[in-house]
Amino acid sequence: MMKNTSVTFRQAKEKGGKLTMLTAYDYSTAKMVDEAGINSILVGDSLGMVCLGYEDTLSVTMEDMIHHTKAVARGAKEALVIADMPFMSYQASVYDAVVNAGRLVKEGHAQAVKLEGGKEVCPQIEAIVKASIPVCAHIGLTPQSIHAFGGFKVQGKGEEAARKLIEAAQAVEEAGAFAVVLECVPEALAKLVTQKVSIPTIGIGAGAGCDGQVLVYQDMLGMYADFAPKFVKVFANVGEEMRKGFAAYKKEVEDGRFPAAEHTFRMDESILEKLY
Ligand code: KIV
Repeated sequence: MMKNTSVTFRQAKEKGGKLTMLTAYDYSTAKMVDEAGINSILVGDSLGMVCLGYEDTLSVTMEDMIHHTKAVARGAKEALVIADMPFMSYQASVYDAVVNAGRLVKEGHAQAVKLEGGKEVCPQIEAIVKASIPVCAHIGLTPQSIHAFGGFKVQGKGEEAARKLIEAAQAVEEAGAFAVVLECVPEALAKLVTQKVSIPTIGIGAGAGCDGQVLVYQDMLGMYADFAPKFVKVFANVGEEMRKGFAAYKKEVEDGRFPAAEHTFRMDESILEKLY
């Protein structure tokens, strides 16, 4: 397979193929996602919820993102590694945005960054792109704005909100984003946005009309039960298998059946005798 880059992402839209993206936060998961041929691995700030146990993504730090991006980058050979810019790493100034995007690439070894927002973050997108760092935009339900939205809610349902979403997609394209994530928007609106921009749209809870799809891997493997959005499909119930595995381990250790002979190291009996 060929290395996926921001350039191959743009080309995929022209060719009309569907792009695949999944999150990962560690080396072994990234390696499996990469080996499955998924086009891109997103080190999402969903890290805060699914790995670190926070209620939302707001507490995630640059240090958290760099730490996990490094691990993912070591496991990804062909997939494009995109790192999320965490809350308050880009909102306050264009300077912050460029410096922090640079850290995700330089220290985390990401090949692109993602940030949330439309027109209001276009100066940041432009400046990061000028620094030769590809940017994936993220509009619709942007979880870093949870307090402003008043919860995790579908976006763009009314006429004004729908127009704003279309304008946001056009603005981030104009600012230089190579792709845009559309989260939790009605299917028909996502389809329209997809027609109106020439960069690929990556949907999550945005229907089948997008150029690609992204899911949080713990969601699509049934490993995260705290919150189950409607848009999630469980493709393999790994969570259930893990629970069964943990329970089986506990039982076998308690019953003395594990470890068995084949899991045990041996030594010369004559040496052992001298130790008594
Ligand atoms: O943080 C994340 O995982 C994301 C995806 C849900 C798009 O932003």
